[in-house]
Amino acid sequence: MASTAVADANAGGFGVEAAGVGQVLDGSNPAIVRLRQLVDGPQSSEGWRRCWEQGVTPWDLGEPTPAVVKLVQSGTLPGGGATVLVPGCGGGYDAVAMSGAGRSVVGLDVCDAVIQRARRRMSSASTPDVTFVTADFFTWAPPEPFHLIFDYTFFCALDPSLRPAWAARMDELLRPDGELITLMYLPRDQDSGPPYNTTVFDYEEVLKPLGFFIESIEDNDVAVEPRKGLEKIARWKKTPAGTETPI
Ligand SMILES: C[S@@+](CC[C@H](N)C(=O)[O-])C[C@H]1O[C@@H](n2cnc3c(N)ncnc32)[C@H](O)[C@@H]1O
Repeated sequence: MASTAVADANAGGFGVEAAGVGQVLDGSNPAIVRLRQLVDGPQSSEGWRRCWEQGVTPWDLGEPTPAVVKLVQSGTLPGGGATVLVPGCGGGYDAVAMSGAGRSVVGLDVCDAVIQRARRRMSSASTPDVTFVTADFFTWAPPEPFHLIFDYTFFCALDPSLRPAWAARMDELLRPDGELITLMYLPRDQDSGPPYNTTVFDYEEVLKPLGFFIESIEDNDVAVEPRKGLEKIARWKKTPAGTETPI
């Protein structure tokens, strides 16, 4: 699996579909070693584009992550006109899975090639209410903030120096009554990244000062095999202005 990804990278093989199973996301995987060579440092947009263009995408499941399917089936997501943002959406599978029930979803990624591919894939499916946008999460200016933002393997992929800016953007891009859902991949013992070592505290450290609090948090019991035991799902809300953050 990993060596295939590297072979694809060597062949310049953009367009190789993921196999629908997870790879080990640490330095023992040659594709992660290559990813770390390509995405080097905080200003890494060009590096991410190179990853997609060279087929170095060991994180890509090739299908929605099971936790998103479970969330949608739970009926606990806002429906009826709610707007949803999936930043760093990659192949766009989670964005498409979150559409339906009247939700209008934007999948955002800095790599135009993968956004074009997601659009092509969507146009051959039934027409979900999803828009794919090529833009940098840190500078993009949508017309309106969103009711819901879903982050999966975006926080842990960013250089840790960008985490305060990630939180500030979440604050700006979310309506005051909106919800942030973080499906948190929590790798430990990494020498470098992406993915970088991440803890729940790392999220709290940047989100709590902005008035975010955790409404619920649980282990992701449907994580794909190599990620089992390393994922939690947290649902965050913002405290209304002028009130105390719940403990
Ligand atoms: C580890 S991948 C995760 C993709 C997807 N969430 C998934 O789980 O398959 C991180 C994604 O973030 C995108 N990305 C990195 N920096 C970005 C930025 N500043 N703005 C938007 N997307 C970015 C990359 O192109 C890549 O698709």
